[in-house]
Amino acid sequence: MKLDVVLGLQWGDEGKGKIVDVLAGQYPAVARFQGGPNAGHSLHFEGKSFVLRSIPSGIFRKDAINIVGNGVVLDPITFKGECENIAKTGVPVKDRIVIAKKAHLILPTHRLLDAANEAAMGKGKIGSTLKGIGPTYTDKISRNGLRVGDILAPDFRDRFNRLKERHIRQLAQLGYECDPEAEEAAFMDAVEFIKGFTLVDCEYFVNETLKTKSILAEGAQGSMLDVDYGSYPFVTSSSTICAGACTGLGVSPSQIGHVYGIFKAYCTRVGSGPFPTELFDETGEKLRRLGNEFGAVTGRPRRCGWLDLVALKYTVMLNGVTDLIMMKSDCLDSFGTIKVCTSYKVDGKETDRVPFDTYTEIEPVYTEFKGWNADLTWCRKESELPEEFKEYIRFMEEYLGVPIRIISIGPDRDATIMR
Ligand code: IMO
Ligand code: MG
Repeated sequence: MKLDVVLGLQWGDEGKGKIVDVLAGQYPAVARFQGGPNAGHSLHFEGKSFVLRSIPSGIFRKDAINIVGNGVVLDPITFKGECENIAKTGVPVKDRIVIAKKAHLILPTHRLLDAANEAAMGKGKIGSTLKGIGPTYTDKISRNGLRVGDILAPDFRDRFNRLKERHIRQLAQLGYECDPEAEEAAFMDAVEFIKGFTLVDCEYFVNETLKTKSILAEGAQGSMLDVDYGSYPFVTSSSTICAGACTGLGVSPSQIGHVYGIFKAYCTRVGSGPFPTELFDETGEKLRRLGNEFGAVTGRPRRCGWLDLVALKYTVMLNGVTDLIMMKSDCLDSFGTIKVCTSYKVDGKETDRVPFDTYTEIEPVYTEFKGWNADLTWCRKESELPEEFKEYIRFMEEYLGVPIRIISIGPDRDATIMR
């Protein structure tokens, strides 16, 4: 069986939660392979809404196994809170989640370091979600981190203290005033909570599962936030692209099946960094309002702009996308003209490539489409879609060279057209 991957092709917040929830019905297992509680995957069904941070979006499907993979960074405190919230609805979380022993732990001091680093950067700050993601991956790569499996070791407390002391020295160097022990009791309590879950050697577990079942790998963030290929340094600290699913779960590239690439019909970004099609006018304001573009994790207003096909073609290439999924088309229902960026102008020359330098001045070149001026949210079949909308879809498929298989026209599970 195959590992199918679903991931965001833009700067995050593409609507991954909804799609994984829709697709999860077809998969006996769902796995997160990178990121941590910086993610906020929103699910809406049967009149209820949830935001998932570290838990895979298959959690509400009966009989689905949800794997928190090796590549994830896990904050025990947030994870416990998330589990307790979901358990209130009667979901047996401990039966439905397994956690990789090799996933790294986010300590309370990692979160403080995140804040201290950002404060020290002043205007040049990344706009991090302040969940401790960067400092935890830093410790992982510099070989100082603590892993989930370590909580079972008799000397866990000593190892925790050693890492904490290291962080306290770093915080002092940054001149950041805080109480590094404020959340220690809550952390230890949450660590005990995690001991009640099945902790697995994820690479064996996943490969064993793949012998009889297909798995859906759920990406967090988006490809333009990838640490290698995103708009560095304005990125997150993990591999958000398809290749990250291999390292993050311990599977070989030959096991990958479908790669579902999710994008919104327009663009948003939270935090700092380049955004060539960003709108600072009423149109941007209208997109934010209609799309309710406010962070699910931080509540920050998201920056909004027209769809950027240059960046999208780049991430389709990086991921080897086999199937495209377009979200929030309904948010464009009331626009007379819809624009998409089809090339960049850099130093007076037109290009269809994303430039190396994050600080390059880019002027977007747009192709315009007539709006459909109709309410898409009632459509359930392809045949019900307006002709102008179909024209818009055809153009994108041709430009990107990949079929759009799913069109989402509303937040609910049912507001989905399969093609
Ligand atoms: P989901 O999975 C949107 C952004 C932050 C910041 C940068 C680095 O919900 O799509 P970090 O906390 O990772 O060090 O922040 O990345 N960012 C996201 N933006 N959606 C996300 O996740 C994000 N996770 C991180 O705003 O600019
Ligand atoms: Mg988000």
